[in-house]
Amino acid sequence: MPSSELTGTRDEVDSARAGSVRLDHVTHRYGRGGEGFTAVGPVDLTVPAGQFLVLVGASGCGKSTLLRLIAGFERPTGGSVRVSGAEPRPGGTAGVVFQTPRLFPWRTVRGNVDLALRYAGVPRAQWPGRRAELLARVGLEGTEERRVWEISGGQQQRVAIARALAAENPLLLLDEPFAALDALTRERLQQDVRRVTDRTGRTTVFVTHSADEAVFLGSRIVVLTRSPGTVALDLPITLPRGDIDAEELRGSREFAELRARVSHAVKAAAAA
Ligand SMILES: Nc1ncnc2c1ncn2[C@@H]1O[C@H](COP(=O)(O)OP(=O)(O)O)[C@@H](O)[C@H]1O
Ligand SMILES: [Mg+2]
Repeated sequence: MPSSELTGTRDEVDSARAGSVRLDHVTHRYGRGGEGFTAVGPVDLTVPAGQFLVLVGASGCGKSTLLRLIAGFERPTGGSVRVSGAEPRPGGTAGVVFQTPRLFPWRTVRGNVDLALRYAGVPRAQWPGRRAELLARVGLEGTEERRVWEISGGQQQRVAIARALAAENPLLLLDEPFAALDALTRERLQQDVRRVTDRTGRTTVFVTHSADEAVFLGSRIVVLTRSPGTVALDLPITLPRGDIDAEELRGSREFAELRARVSHAVKAAAAA
């Protein structure tokens, strides 16, 4: 076979894997020697491109640590982490949303999004168009000139999500992003995140301790044991996606059954 054909084949495989996550026997230890503490592992987990994976577990079981390893903010002390087939690089691998939005409070919404576009290497001439598209996607049309300190917590988290989407990374990582919001705002943002990720086809890893949130969002749920977190339950979620009626979905028997099952698994895993 000519080498060009070989290259073509390999490229096809690589692009198909863009956004995929693979953890092989990952462990993570904080500190050294007798003072050390194993927070995670061993975890073996493959997230195919386009999946919406929710990691659920009790506080302290290692969810944030796992997410930081996938983002490349930390290197595992054991095993290997691969994103799109390569070692993750902080800033280069994934869009990340944290529990508290990390924004520049004295800047405008526009300024915050533009900084993310600049950081993502988007040419300046494309900023207005991209910015408008991103703000529309997270439901923030018309807020460009507002200062971050003037807008609500829910709106701030929307800006953080727009910033995470700015880089057009195939992978989006969210660490309990709605934990500090009121119930109504939280449900709205859940719907929006579900829709945005369905539409953009991004691979998503979302961390929460809420069984309800996990079942609503995930196309797959992984429940972690208490620290050091390992996989206690790996559950595909076959609830309908795309343009759904959220109220109807939340009110369905399947939803209630899955929520009870996940909730039970989280409690059992935390107690084990
Ligand atoms: N930088 C750190 N240094 C030492 N211990 C840490 C550090 N980060 C987290 N831990 C510990 O690792 C465990 C898992 O933490 P974390 O990943 O934040 O859990 P979760 O997000 O599930 O609440 C906890 O016991 C926590 O105290
Ligand atoms: Mg955490």
